[in-house]
Amino acid sequence: MSNIIDGKAFAARLRETLATQVAHLKREQGLTPGLAVVLVGEDPASQVYVRNKGRQTREAGMSSFEYRLPDTAEQSELLALVDKLNRDDAVHGILVQLPLPAQIDAEAVINAIAPNKDVDGFHLTNVGRLSIGAEGIVPCTPLGSLMLLKDRLGDLSGLHAVVVGRSNIVGKPVAALLLQQNCTVTIAHSCTRNLADECRRADILVAAVGRPQMIQGDWIKPGATVIDVGINRIAADGGKTRLVGDVDFASASDVAGAITPVPGGVGPMTIACLLHNTVQQACRIAGVPLPAA
Ligand code: GUN
Repeated sequence: MSNIIDGKAFAARLRETLATQVAHLKREQGLTPGLAVVLVGEDPASQVYVRNKGRQTREAGMSSFEYRLPDTAEQSELLALVDKLNRDDAVHGILVQLPLPAQIDAEAVINAIAPNKDVDGFHLTNVGRLSIGAEGIVPCTPLGSLMLLKDRLGDLSGLHAVVVGRSNIVGKPVAALLLQQNCTVTIAHSCTRNLADECRRADILVAAVGRPQMIQGDWIKPGATVIDVGINRIAADGGKTRLVGDVDFASASDVAGAITPVPGGVGPMTIACLLHNTVQQACRIAGVPLPAA
């Protein structure tokens, strides 16, 4: 088996499974899972993400609702839209694309989303549920990372996981998920002393710091599984740019037992897991079982 973890292929299989489940829900239950995505402003990267989300939602046979507000939109306008979507029975998932313009309080907006439609898993209710191990909605990138790890390693119990990065969107929820899987979890961050030594203790190393190629091959225990969540654009030859992770892939891939590439590793899992969360919530809201895969 190659030591490269092919997240692109895994995500494509997951989307196929979801499309089959959606077809079943439509046929047997008259239920079409629907995802609403809200974009405020014209940020180019956000526009690309939103377009991809819409396309993949439709490809899975789901309903896609897209809302665009100008970057001058007021908080009250966005809150009114969220309220409308909370009450819309055709909408089972609501995603407000981040970052939001400075005049808008992102936390207030996220916490105005109905917790059972918060398919990002960012609402305080879902954060709390994850932290106590209760059923809720798990953030997409952490969920995708966990799926790749379980696919590769099976039972994670007793493994030492080191998560580098403590963001609310990736580091903290990944750590909570790995703890739930009975890993021994270390969360390292910008103030951690001897970071390389901490990383060398990891059977599972998750890199989510946003620093291009920071983690070197000699920081990795031979045979360890490396999940690189970083997506960083750096200068390349001929005035071009290219995407790299937080891990120096060239040196790390010689040492790791398995490693996700960038691009083509964790990245494609994020939207696939967003669709997964939406189908799951459509079933929960409608009170019907999730069809078998
Ligand atoms: N912007 C970049 N990534 C994300 C994400 O996962 N969710 C939302 N809502 N906005 C983002």
